[in-house]
Amino acid sequence: MPTTAPIKILAILALIQATTNNIRVMSSVVALGAGVICNRIPGLTPRQREMCRAAPDAMVALGDGVRLGRLECQAQFKSHRWNCSALGKGNSFGHVILVGSKEAAFTYAVSSAGVAYSIAAACSRGNISTCGCAPGKAVSPPKWKWGGCSVDAGYGMRLARRFLDAREIEGDARSLMNLHNNKAGRKAVKASLQTECKCHGVSGSCTMKTCWKTLPPFRQIGDILMKKYWKARNVIAVPTTQEGGLKLILKRGSRTQGQGPEQQRPVAPRRSELVFLESSPNYCDRDPSTGSMGTQGRECNRTSKGMDGCDLMCCGRGYNTHQFTNTSQCHCKFHWCCYVRCDTCSEKTEQYTCK
Ligand SMILES: *[C@@H]1O[C@H](CO)[C@@H](O)[C@H](O)[C@H]1NC(C)=O
Ligand SMILES: *[C@@H]1O[C@H](CO)[C@@H](O)[C@H](O)[C@H]1NC(C)=O
Ligand SMILES: *[C@@H]1O[C@H](CO)[C@@H](O)[C@H](O)[C@H]1NC(C)=O
Ligand SMILES: *[C@@H]1O[C@H](CO)[C@@H](O)[C@H](O)[C@H]1NC(C)=O
Repeated sequence: MPTTAPIKILAILALIQATTNNIRVMSSVVALGAGVICNRIPGLTPRQREMCRAAPDAMVALGDGVRLGRLECQAQFKSHRWNCSALGKGNSFGHVILVGSKEAAFTYAVSSAGVAYSIAAACSRGNISTCGCAPGKAVSPPKWKWGGCSVDAGYGMRLARRFLDAREIEGDARSLMNLHNNKAGRKAVKASLQTECKCHGVSGSCTMKTCWKTLPPFRQIGDILMKKYWKARNVIAVPTTQEGGLKLILKRGSRTQGQGPEQQRPVAPRRSELVFLESSPNYCDRDPSTGSMGTQGRECNRTSKGMDGCDLMCCGRGYNTHQFTNTSQCHCKFHWCCYVRCDTCSEKTEQYTCK
């Protein structure tokens, strides 16, 4: 089972996070050059160190992007058995292993999308000295042109690719999976760019229109990736004609394969799709070797039939009921003049957690 790749990538994410705060502190110390800052970050490859020196301010956005991806992952999986525990708080996720599952696919995609997004946003805010707004585009349908500050997704995508992909050098199946999902995440950012336009001309006649690209809220990208998660494709790695090379193809029997003789032809997954190598554990029980935290202690909904319902969430183990009585002021009336009188209301609430 290829388990080194996830440790490695999660470690680098942890590292970026751990060092972001230091960078923040250090970047205010003008006396410290970028070289010093970048030399202090442990575990960077020479190429990453070079990138850090070239754009230390981008490293801050990079750390922000990792955080953004993590928060989105946790929000999207809030009511699932697997709640994005691989990207836990602070540095604690450095040693969590995720098998090559759909959940791992989502984790990589959302992290790399977060980084691309955050860097693109920082560029258009003018926070990174080595990038800015996309250059104005030439007039393309006759009456309108690109103008204003167009988000430059390219820089963010390139930086995310160079930085996050830099570790996936083994060329094994798991590295290919990670690279594929990283790319799908970045592509989702690019595909989500929206065009905003403004009309100019006599009394809003719109004889002239200026358009620019903006980033949507990151939630929208999380939603897109979540759809891809549900439709993630099972792949296997097969040798290429090149000596020692590997490539990913759809596993036979997985959905929408061609019919008849076509079926024999290997089909590559689309670049926008998420791919996984191994089926997911059920995440009911704690198993560090698969990245499963188990659902003991998780809050569940007694009446829901969905994944957040106690039956499914607790895997049939049952749940504990906790009762709270909340008191608050209510029925407040204003009396002339001038005071407010309220009643005290108490409300019983219950909370359920998995056994
Ligand atoms: C970006 O720049 C603004 C001011 O232009 C500043 O308030 C903000 O903290 C900066 N953010 C980052 C991540 O550097
Ligand atoms: C995820 O679930 C674990 C228990 O399985 C819990 O300790 C942790 O706080 C949860 N994380 C989030 C972000 O909800
Ligand atoms: C529990 O699930 C029910 C039915 O899906 C829903 O109406 C209710 O708002 C949920 N309660 C909480 C606390 O999420
Ligand atoms: C009631 O109190 C508990 C514990 O203090 C809290 O978690 C919960 O959100 C409160 N519920 C309402 C409806 O205010």
